[in-house]
Amino acid sequence: MKPLLQVAEKERARRRLAELREQISYHDHRYYVLDSPEISDAEYDLLFRELKDLEERYPDLVSSDSPSRRVGGAPLAQFAPVAHRQPMLSLENAFNEGEIRDFLVRLGRFLHTDQVPILHAEPKLDGLAVELVYEDGVFSLGSTRGDGLTGENITANLATIGSIPARLQAPAPGMLPARLEVRGEVCLSIAGFRELNRQRAEASEALFANPRNAAAGSLRQLDAAVTAARPLEFFAYGVGDAADFGVATQAELLAALAGAGFQLIPHGRTCPDLATVIAHFHHLAELRRELPYEIDGMVIKVNDLALQQRLGAKARSPRWAVAAKFAAVQATTVLVRVEFQVGRTGAVTPVARLEPVSVGGVTVSRATLHNEDEIRRKDLRLGDTVVVQRAGEVIPEVVKPVVEKRSGAEQAIQLPAACPECATPLVRKEGEAVRRCPNPLCPAQRLRSLIHFCSKAGLDIEGLGKKAVEQLVQTGLVRDIPDIYRLRAEQLAELEGWGEKSAANVIAAIAAAKRTRLARLLAALGIRHVGEVNAQLLARRFPTLEAISQAEEEDLLEIDGVGPQVAASLVSFFRDPATEEMLAQLRDLGLEILPEEARGENLPLQGRVFLFTGTLEHFSRDEAKARVKERGGEIATTLNRKVTDLVCGAKPGSKLTKARELAITILEEADFQRLLAGSSQGYV
Ligand code: IVH
Repeated sequence: MKPLLQVAEKERARRRLAELREQISYHDHRYYVLDSPEISDAEYDLLFRELKDLEERYPDLVSSDSPSRRVGGAPLAQFAPVAHRQPMLSLENAFNEGEIRDFLVRLGRFLHTDQVPILHAEPKLDGLAVELVYEDGVFSLGSTRGDGLTGENITANLATIGSIPARLQAPAPGMLPARLEVRGEVCLSIAGFRELNRQRAEASEALFANPRNAAAGSLRQLDAAVTAARPLEFFAYGVGDAADFGVATQAELLAALAGAGFQLIPHGRTCPDLATVIAHFHHLAELRRELPYEIDGMVIKVNDLALQQRLGAKARSPRWAVAAKFAAVQATTVLVRVEFQVGRTGAVTPVARLEPVSVGGVTVSRATLHNEDEIRRKDLRLGDTVVVQRAGEVIPEVVKPVVEKRSGAEQAIQLPAACPECATPLVRKEGEAVRRCPNPLCPAQRLRSLIHFCSKAGLDIEGLGKKAVEQLVQTGLVRDIPDIYRLRAEQLAELEGWGEKSAANVIAAIAAAKRTRLARLLAALGIRHVGEVNAQLLARRFPTLEAISQAEEEDLLEIDGVGPQVAASLVSFFRDPATEEMLAQLRDLGLEILPEEARGENLPLQGRVFLFTGTLEHFSRDEAKARVKERGGEIATTLNRKVTDLVCGAKPGSKLTKARELAITILEEADFQRLLAGSSQGYV
């Protein structure tokens, strides 16, 4: 019998893992899909690390949907999916010298040798990973990484980037393969990022958090002309399959890519041993300040491509490379004041006001304190000298007080009992870390909801950025969402900073936003727990807003991915008479909700769920799965009642016998190939 304590501990681990999975998926989505991260890379890394540590301790608790099993990021709806022939993996991190050494030890163990293989170390550029396919030397297809297996087709946008050659030069006679998949990073320089944000601030548009997000936002433009106007650069660091490129090492591969016409990441070097690797790491950490592009670490790769092949990859990352991350940049300053901000959903979050301090070249005067438990846990007090850090880049945070510097005059931080905006007493629900303002009419909540409604995550009304919405609310022109549709050009033109032209443009943008897709509108309404992903799920299941508004919790819970919190939140939102009134007004104002675009509706394998068993001869499992997914099919990992097709390779397992009993369609590899060929939609 297991000691009770162990059982309880495992139960705790199970619960914590579920929490971590949910949090990580949420932040993945914010980072990869919305380009709008909420936490710093360092905080994300911590979550991920905790997940991996727990999973290592309890391997039987690793669920099939664990983020440790995938690469992160799901493709957006608007761009056509592109399956990567070779998955685009991500990298494991090493946070200190010890972990770099561990990486080398792992290499030796796997390769059964005491000798450290020769390595190639290069800066880790902080941009967006893309793949460029060249057929007979001509650029034919460009895509984002997406979830690693399937990305988005952004060929037209990539074609606008000057450093992406439209046609390759042959580095040496006969050296250009018929098909070449070049991989690298698309980046915006720090100077380009600042200039872009300056322009956006002038136009009252939302600012990008960092160059990476600016690059991502610029690439994922449906209008390639917008991409063309941004000073993006491409730096090559590898290829999908080096086999047909006639090179033996990473260094040769890079030289060949340069010969073919690509720009390489500068400051890469071949390193014969650990000491050289570490020295190069310190060198880059120094150089970092002067580089025109943001780098967040150094990638260490096994130089020999044949050894790379032997080492292969785990689910998420190759065994032959590691990302050595730079430490977060820290500085100390004084905590002057704590302000409490009321968010769109009423959540009250503390924000630290700091004496301005330069942290790695950026002046920081505000930092997030997350929530009141954090304040208590860190024992922060007003007047404290505190350590602040920018990890990677993104949002600065207060790490801890410098207790030795206390004079005794520091004061406890008073947590508000009432909403700082509308004075309604705050409530804190059991199990939640935040206090909320329960007043749906709270002006701060209204303002934030309106900002959200018009923002990129909402209806994306060009010209109605944060500042413009604030102005409209301050001047009393807009009090609620329907008011936006009541605006007239004359009213706008009279406002400070506006002219006839900008007024006319915004009115046109508002008019365009009268026709909107169901999922978009749902996400824009700012219903608690209903972000872009849940909105998509709902819109795919229910044809109209009416249908969703009438659904009961049990109907909503039937949707895969919709949990009790979301269902309850939807029901309470739609049962609210104020919501009914608002929707009625929107309808009267001419809002037209288009049914969900047939994303995948007409795809040939839509509605079918595939399970694989045995070894396929012509496909890797990953490729086979990618082929199914790009045709709209789903993949199962266990035999359950949803499975419609079992694909059988050589030496099938017990799944085959079971599938026969369940009368599931059984496809041999040749049947599967025919099915794919017959349902090809111009995919590879
Ligand atoms: S090699 C198998 N080299 O880092 C992965 N990646 O977590 C091979 N990155 O998004 C990647 N600079 O785009 C490699 N010099 C470099 C890199 C680099 C930046 C990015 C890459 C990916 C992420 C990996």
